[in-house]
Amino acid sequence: MKLKYLGHAAFYIESGDFKSLIDPFLNGNPQAKASPDDFTNISHIFVTHGHGDHLGDTVEIAKKNNSTVITNFEISVFLGEKEINTHPMHIGGRSKFDFGIVKMTPALHGSGIQTPDGMIYGGNPCGFVIEVDGKKIYHAGDTGLTMDMKLLETENIDLAILPIGGNFTMDIDDAVRAVEFIKPKKIIPIHYDTFPIIKACPQEFKDRVKNVEVIILDSNGEYTL
Ligand code: NI
Ligand code: MN
Repeated sequence: MKLKYLGHAAFYIESGDFKSLIDPFLNGNPQAKASPDDFTNISHIFVTHGHGDHLGDTVEIAKKNNSTVITNFEISVFLGEKEINTHPMHIGGRSKFDFGIVKMTPALHGSGIQTPDGMIYGGNPCGFVIEVDGKKIYHAGDTGLTMDMKLLETENIDLAILPIGGNFTMDIDDAVRAVEFIKPKKIIPIHYDTFPIIKACPQEFKDRVKNVEVIILDSNGEYTL
């Protein structure tokens, strides 16, 4: 499968007719080189939580592409009211799709949805284990280090996508510990340098992770798994 990093926590993942986005924060994302119009035939959008830098351009892209949004129940209801197709899941749930298998994993974070009328309850934040073409990707979403990550070891994760920027999520110290828990084959660090408050050096992370390949992608950088 083909991956493209879109900056911050956003990814494009493609395998045949499965053309998906994860946390498509493009408008207003200082790292984004892509815009919502660059994507066509998006079949699925994964949303880890309700914060603006993750929910991002989901509404616009889902409407234009008639995409199915896979997210927690509360965000599914929020999007459903905007006539967007959703597939609600919740923490610990695993579900089969035509493209593969998805499991929703816990994240330690918030999930409120900011609107002009105030903050809407967005359920629990999550991560995803997405299995496509016999490969498993774990996108952690925004999270602190959790003991629950130890449970992911038996998932045999091929690629872990982990935040390293600190302040709102794991910093490099904790992300290094997360790698010891998860034992993935490869890692892509995310959620750093987008804003001054989450400044972090991915090369330092790479140097500190032992025996696992760390792939540092620039915005719009591609990787084939
Ligand atoms: Ni967040
Ligand atoms: Mn975030």
